[in-house]
Parts: sequence; structure tokens; C-alpha cells
Amino acid sequence: MAMPNKGDYLTTIAWENDGVKMIDQTKLPESLEYITCKNYMDIADAIKKLAIRGAPAIGVAAAMGLALCANNSTCNNKAKMMEELGLAYDILLKTRPTAINLKWGLDKVFEEAKKYDRVDDIKKNTILEAIKMSHDDITTNKLLGKFGSDLINDGEVVMTHCNAGALATVSYGTALGVIRSAMEAGKKISVIATETRPVMQGSRLTAFELVQDGIDVSLIPDTAVGYLMSNKMIDKVVVGADRILKSGHVFNKIGTYQVALLAKVHNIPFYVAAPLSTFDMDSNKEDIVIEERSADEVVKIGEKRIAPVGVRIFNPAFDVTSPELIAGIITEKGVIYPPYELNLRSLFKSDK
Ligand code: MRU
Repeated sequence: MAMPNKGDYLTTIAWENDGVKMIDQTKLPESLEYITCKNYMDIADAIKKLAIRGAPAIGVAAAMGLALCANNSTCNNKAKMMEELGLAYDILLKTRPTAINLKWGLDKVFEEAKKYDRVDDIKKNTILEAIKMSHDDITTNKLLGKFGSDLINDGEVVMTHCNAGALATVSYGTALGVIRSAMEAGKKISVIATETRPVMQGSRLTAFELVQDGIDVSLIPDTAVGYLMSNKMIDKVVVGADRILKSGHVFNKIGTYQVALLAKVHNIPFYVAAPLSTFDMDSNKEDIVIEERSADEVVKIGEKRIAPVGVRIFNPAFDVTSPELIAGIITEKGVIYPPYELNLRSLFKSDK
């Protein structure tokens, strides 16, 4: 994976030789560094420590992790290899609970493995499947980007929260894919990125990739969203998603719900951009685990402590935005409008 030239979109993750190369997002924006994972435990660690993050990116990372497990295996029969893959599947699945793409990626590779009897065929085809998923991710983002681009007018200011860009996917991005596509269509767009406390995906990652692409971006504190909206400084909001239920409830980075509520009050269309792999048509809202992350993310900035020792911390990483706050969900099959339950059911029926 070569270093990107100015103007090239970043590639977040790629299979390279017998390893998986990925951008270490913990190092951004100070330096663009890559790490190579040699086995599935390396991938599990990278996902847990947020070296790679963003729903579609962790889906592909987990898929490649399972392929690494197969490729590194010394098992000489299918039964033993499937047992080993099952163990790796469980470990990778437990790395982060909220984004459904993780399970989607693991299931695709596990199902592929089941199709073959010879261990060499399992190795070869799980790798091919994981690589194909990484290529498909980019195609999907470009498709959904085009559908989303039709919703954005020339000269508009688009707000986004967290990072749903190239760094949250294999490349191009979902919410930022919509912005890139609108720009490729010749529209002049400017972006408002929220910092996204406490992990700062907005300032560290979204601002980084938009500056790198030469896209007009302004960074604001999360607390300034209401101010900008009430002063008519935002035309549209586009965010990504970690999981979307059949009811149209959207799980995304903490703070998304507040942005959606404010957008509703100020009559600003709030869109969600996500591939079909982010939809969970089986679960109910109550079934979904919201990841609780470490207190350190809240009480420290870098190594500096910013809260007193002894204070109780609550650090949920995701929240839920209800369907009535969402103007449309942009997918690779088109834009889905309310009523979501009905329209999603027919989308998924026709997709089979
Ligand atoms: O904790 P993160 O950084 O993995 O959270 C990422 C988000 O919430 C993104 O908005 C979401 O995954 C969509 S990515 C296309």
C-alpha cells in the first residue's frame, strides 16, 4: 500500500502479501503511519485500541482477520480448521459490540470457509473473499455517494459528525463519500466537522482527510452545533451509522442524536449514509449493546488529566437516533425515505 499522493483518497486497509496493512488511526493527525497485522490477534488488538475504527472498516478488518487465521493455520483437516476459525470468530466478534458490520464481515468469510473440503482451498478462498469485500466496499461507497450527491445543492454547507470518511471504510467513505461525490459532480460544497469528543474522530480524522483532499472544512466544538444551526449556517447534515434497525433507528457515534434533534428543530434535513451491510433487520432497539469505553477518554486529554480524581465517569460510545428525526437513509440501492419499516422491508426483500 503506497503512501497517498495529494489528491488520492486514503486507503485504510489492504491485504498485502501474507499480512494486513492498515493506517494506525491512533497516530493521526500528527503522522500517517501504517501497521501490519500478521495474525488475527493483531487484528483484534488493532480494532480494540481503535487503530482501525468505523463500522465498514472494522467489518473488513475482521474478515481479513479470519482469513489470516485460515492462512496461518497448521491444521491438516477441515474439521480442525473450522474449529480454529470458530475460536477466532468469537474473539474478533467480541472486540467491539455496536457496529453490525463486524459480524457481517466475519459471517461472510466463515460461510466461504464452509464451502470447501480441502484446507488449501479454505485458505485460498477465505483470502479471496476478504479481498473482494475490501474492493466491494469502495464500489458501494461510490454508488451511495452518487445517490447522496443528488440531495446536496451547489454552494451548500454540510455538517457531519464523527468520521464516516475514507478512514472509516476501505476508502472514499459513506457520509464523506456523499460530499466527495457532490464535489466530483462539480458542486461547490463546504463542510462543518464536529470535534466529536471524547475520541475526537471529527478533528483528528475527518478534518485530516478533508484537508488532505483540499475540501473546504471548518472544525467546530460539539457544543457549537446549536449556535451554527440557529444562525442558518448549516444547510444539510450527513452522518454515517454503526447499525440501522428495521424500524429505522440509527446507532451512531455519541452525539449524533443531539445533532439530529437540533437539525429537526431548525428544519435542516438530517441524512444517514450507510451500506446495506450496516442494517440489522433482526434485532430490536433493546437488544443492542452500546459500547462503554474507558474513563481515561473523558478524564484525560493526551496525558493531561482534566477532571478530578474520584469523579464518576459515564462514557457511552454510541447513541440512538429515532426514525422521525431522519430525512432519508442513503444506501447503495438508493435513498430510503419514511416510512422506514415498510420501505426497508421491501428493499431487503428485493435484495435477496
Ligand atoms: O468509535 P468509532 O470511531 O468506530 O465510531 C465510528 C462511527 O460512529 C461512525 O460514524 C460510523 O462507524 C460510520 S462509519 C462509515
